[in-house]
Amino acid sequence: MPPFPLLAVLLLLLCHGDPRAAAAGNPPDQPPTPTPTPWPHQFHAKLLMDYKGNLSLADLWYDWPGGRNLHVIRYQLAADAPYYDAEWNNGTSFFYTPARRACRSAAVGVGILRPDWLAPGAAYLGRAQADGFDCHVWAKADFITYYEDAQTRRPVKWVFYTGRTAHVMSFEPGAVLEDAAQWQAPDYCFAAGNDLASEPADGRDDQGFIPRIRMPSEG
Ligand SMILES: *[C@@H]1O[C@H](CO)[C@@H](O)[C@H](O)[C@H]1NC(C)=O
Ligand SMILES: *[C@@H]1O[C@H](CO)[C@@H](O)[C@H](O)[C@H]1NC(C)=O
Repeated sequence: MPPFPLLAVLLLLLCHGDPRAAAAGNPPDQPPTPTPTPWPHQFHAKLLMDYKGNLSLADLWYDWPGGRNLHVIRYQLAADAPYYDAEWNNGTSFFYTPARRACRSAAVGVGILRPDWLAPGAAYLGRAQADGFDCHVWAKADFITYYEDAQTRRPVKWVFYTGRTAHVMSFEPGAVLEDAAQWQAPDYCFAAGNDLASEPADGRDDQGFIPRIRMPSEG
């Protein structure tokens, strides 16, 4: 068959196709693509984490002005809970278990997430149900999918590319952990012999309970 009929069909489609496509520069009936709500500069969230069936409850204290992030993690029925993951904006993280006086520190090479970490480069995937909530969904850099309640704009759930999933059980904007002793890494983290381990920061780390990604510094 000669190519002419196909070409004619294409021309017809171009001339008489979807009128919205013709006016693509300024679609009249499409709402603007939603953008993710930036995180409050300080908040407390309770997370139910699920990593391939391994469950934990985590208190997340995000403190952007303080340049720090604390997770207090309780693995299911763990005798030595809680486990702490304290992340500082200078790129140092401390992981410790007070019940065992065990600590590991690491130079992760990245600071904590900026409040607007999700928006740059995030692809909007539309609306979907998550944990029973009607959510806006974004994916970022093939490493996280993030669900935000379309009504309240609160985070509902996020899923790392490995399958590690956080369900947000409570979310308190403005909440600050005042107890300095909670933030301070314990003395055994600084004992001789506890060398600072260097961890590669390849931008896809999801060992923590919030994503750790390399962001341009705020200067
Ligand atoms: C879940 O994972 C944590 C961290 O690797 C581990 O300490 C804990 O024992 C695991 N829980 C179970 C039930 O395997
Ligand atoms: C980063 O800050 C924490 C908390 O102040 C501190 O303990 C740690 O030593 C600092 N790390 C570096 C490399 O300065």
